[in-house]
Amino acid sequence: MTENAETTARTVPRLRAALDGVPTYRPGRPAAAGPGGRLAYKLSSNENPYPPLPGVLEAATAAAGSFNRYPDMACAGLFEALAERFEVPLTHLATGTGSVGIAQQLLQSTAGPGDEVIYAWRSFEAYPIITQIAGATAVQVPLTEGEDHDLDAMAAAITDRTRLIFVCNPNNPTGTAIRRAELERFLDRVPDEVLVVLDEAYREFVRDEQVPDGIELYRDRPNVCVLRTFSKAYGLAGLRVGFAVAHEPVAAALRKTAVPFGVSQIAQDAAVASLRSEDALAERVASLVEERNRVRAELLDQGWTVPETQANFVWLRLGERTLDFAAAAERAGVVVRPFPGEGVRVTIGETEGNDLFLKATAEFRQNAG
Ligand SMILES: Cc1ncc(COP(=O)(O)O)c(C=O)c1O
Repeated sequence: MTENAETTARTVPRLRAALDGVPTYRPGRPAAAGPGGRLAYKLSSNENPYPPLPGVLEAATAAAGSFNRYPDMACAGLFEALAERFEVPLTHLATGTGSVGIAQQLLQSTAGPGDEVIYAWRSFEAYPIITQIAGATAVQVPLTEGEDHDLDAMAAAITDRTRLIFVCNPNNPTGTAIRRAELERFLDRVPDEVLVVLDEAYREFVRDEQVPDGIELYRDRPNVCVLRTFSKAYGLAGLRVGFAVAHEPVAAALRKTAVPFGVSQIAQDAAVASLRSEDALAERVASLVEERNRVRAELLDQGWTVPETQANFVWLRLGERTLDFAAAAERAGVVVRPFPGEGVRVTIGETEGNDLFLKATAEFRQNAG
């Protein structure tokens, strides 16, 4: 049938109004060839620059041999490994297609039209998208001047319509982390019937001992759910597997809302193998943390303001100069993540990529001055 404007208008299926104006998730740009055909470094998606941990590729390859079969829907092997590693009951675990998949299930489980979802802003850019898709109302609480969560303001924003609160610790994209006393004080102020999601996608990179492990905080708090991922420190971003730790009935709701067979067997087996490779993981994370500290120290030396970061990225609040800097960085051979009008987030990657970024920041300051 030839399509014309009239038939198109007549045949469009009715979609939920909640989808109107949903911002599109923008992935970090891939690295194209840089100047002179040199491959640029992709520092735009907070990925791990290392290849899979020892034993992981072998486990994934072995699982690939039977991908004509559906995966284990119960993720039994992965649940057992997680229960043992984090000392939590099997019934308190849920897995999903990345932690962002689980975050979406949490919204499906708790909030719909008329309900409110609180989160800091700027924070992880999936929060507004999944909140709007659920038909719920986002209540964005601005970060403080120091780029931290404003937990007092977040507590004050709770109403009887609040169903879920995201706390991103450390925060993407600023890298800032909330300390124990402050977080506990906040959790004490949240009513028991409101779910608090501690999104700890970057937990493994935390070095400040005062930043609490959410899995310790959840134990005596039935309204706390902790999200973790294999995408960042563990280096399995492409396999899409994350997990949640929460009391019943939250964990049960996550199992109900899961896409059947959503986590592939390759991802499950790779995750189990990654958990067995914790020593190698610790070494890699340690060297990324060392690089992070080097990059931040150098940026401070160059005269930049950089919030203290506990994650695998740094944040430069460049305001109106954000896109100019992103373009300059790309000319220098690194792809960063710009948030127009606000700033850039730059992942800690290979040493050479980090050095190119630092060269770009030095030149940018010189040219600006
Ligand atoms: C704070 C935060 N949470 C969750 C995710 C989602 O990660 P994944 O879905 O790969 O587990 C990300 C990814 O960038 C993130 O930054």
